[in-house]
Amino acid sequence: MKIALSASRPAEAGCLIFPIAKDAAIAPAIAAHALAADAAAASRFGGETGAIVELFVTEGGQTVRVLLVGTGEGKPADHERAGAAAVARLLTSGVTQAVVDGTGVDAESLAHFGLGALLRSWRIDTYRTKLPEKAKPTLETLTLQSDAADLPALWADKEALAQGVAFTRELVSEPANILYPESFVERCRPLADLGVEITVLDEVQMEKLGMGALLGVAQGSVRKPRLLALRWDGTGGAQETPLVLVGKGVTFDTGGISIKPAAGMEDMKWDMGGAGAVAGTMKALAARKAKAHVVGICGLVENMPDGNAQRPGDIVTTMSGQTVEVLNTDAEGRLVLCDAVWWAQQTWKPETLIDLATLTGAMIVALGHEHAGLFSNDDELADRLLAAGRATGDTLWRFPVSEAYDKMLDSPIADIKNIGPRFAGSITAAQFIKRFVQDGVKWAHLDIAGTVWADKPGATWDKGATGYGVRLLDQLIRDHYQA
Ligand code: BES
Ligand code: MN
Ligand code: ZN
Repeated sequence: MKIALSASRPAEAGCLIFPIAKDAAIAPAIAAHALAADAAAASRFGGETGAIVELFVTEGGQTVRVLLVGTGEGKPADHERAGAAAVARLLTSGVTQAVVDGTGVDAESLAHFGLGALLRSWRIDTYRTKLPEKAKPTLETLTLQSDAADLPALWADKEALAQGVAFTRELVSEPANILYPESFVERCRPLADLGVEITVLDEVQMEKLGMGALLGVAQGSVRKPRLLALRWDGTGGAQETPLVLVGKGVTFDTGGISIKPAAGMEDMKWDMGGAGAVAGTMKALAARKAKAHVVGICGLVENMPDGNAQRPGDIVTTMSGQTVEVLNTDAEGRLVLCDAVWWAQQTWKPETLIDLATLTGAMIVALGHEHAGLFSNDDELADRLLAAGRATGDTLWRFPVSEAYDKMLDSPIADIKNIGPRFAGSITAAQFIKRFVQDGVKWAHLDIAGTVWADKPGATWDKGATGYGVRLLDQLIRDHYQA
């Protein structure tokens, strides 16, 4: 589905969508369709966010579908949910062309309506060769009808963001036989056309740099690891040090020799959700030509059991020089991140570094799927992230980091062990990464294990990959890191 903008109603529109605020009168906007008010009353429709009344009217001898969609309190999130609800209803309905009546809706709200609609229309049908005719998407174009002069610019911005989210969802959805470190890199290559500078380290280069922790995870897989850096500078060199984002990109996590139970292991194809969010954010930034300097780094490996896999008890030397006792090969994300984070700091000297990772099952135990966990050494950075989360719906909840938790990672034989005691698993995982954050660097770690994948449809996504993180980071950059 694509979004079009028009000041007039396209003749071919077979469906008219009317956004209706909470408890607003139906009549004025839809005077020509007297049935609508009756239908709304009969359906006990009160303009609640995302509520829908669907009816058919005749207009000039033609049958036209009419959708009343509630926009509730009229906040941006309400308009997004309304747009998403309309599309969810229409996507496979037989309607090919629909138009949103933007009369009396400000351009910003209408753009949010369009954003919600576009996000909700995303789906991956690549592997469906036998989709029944009636299950195939029919909706081709959703036109936002408005004469607001500022709509095109507002919309271009939202569309770029939606492209970023879609890219993340695509990466997260692909199975691990298709998406592995090298093919992840290839999927990112087209970002160069948008002006993104791409750097890729292979296993030989990583070996030279001493990335023993990342390579230790990778050594059980026939898929070669990669470290990918995507750099976008929309400041023309004015911002010397970039904001750095680092994503965990475990393209499949079997647990390694500390192997996971079979049930549900397929979920671990989305253990690259942090890297996916970073790549999608970079796409959004470049697509909207953000006036910011950002480097997105993806640590890409596959974690497999094998004759050559690392063993529990192995000691690896990280790029930082610190040694790690690998007590559990399933705590691999932190091993990938510690080298990626160290390399990022050595290479780009950032003031601020944010990492994203589907790091711990314990995060899901704590927060379910409603928030991702936030861990930070800097209150201002944490508050900025919390605010960006509230603004976009990619919500966060902050957890503590402290000396006492840090101690739990002391190893009797090496500098640090890769797992702590039974409890506070998400915090000790964060503490592990923190040991690789250099003095003075403002750091935040987002444990997104519970928010990358949805078992049921949400506000602006179907079940499956949510694209979590792209909107959050895009908003953070908009609010604080743009020139
Ligand atoms: N990728 C998993 C975390 C995860 C689990 C994400 C379930 C999403 C859903 C991570 O690599 C992992 O296996 N963590 C272990 C850590 C433990 C061994 C200390 C976990 O959470 O069980
Ligand atoms: Mn694991
Ligand atoms: Zn993992």
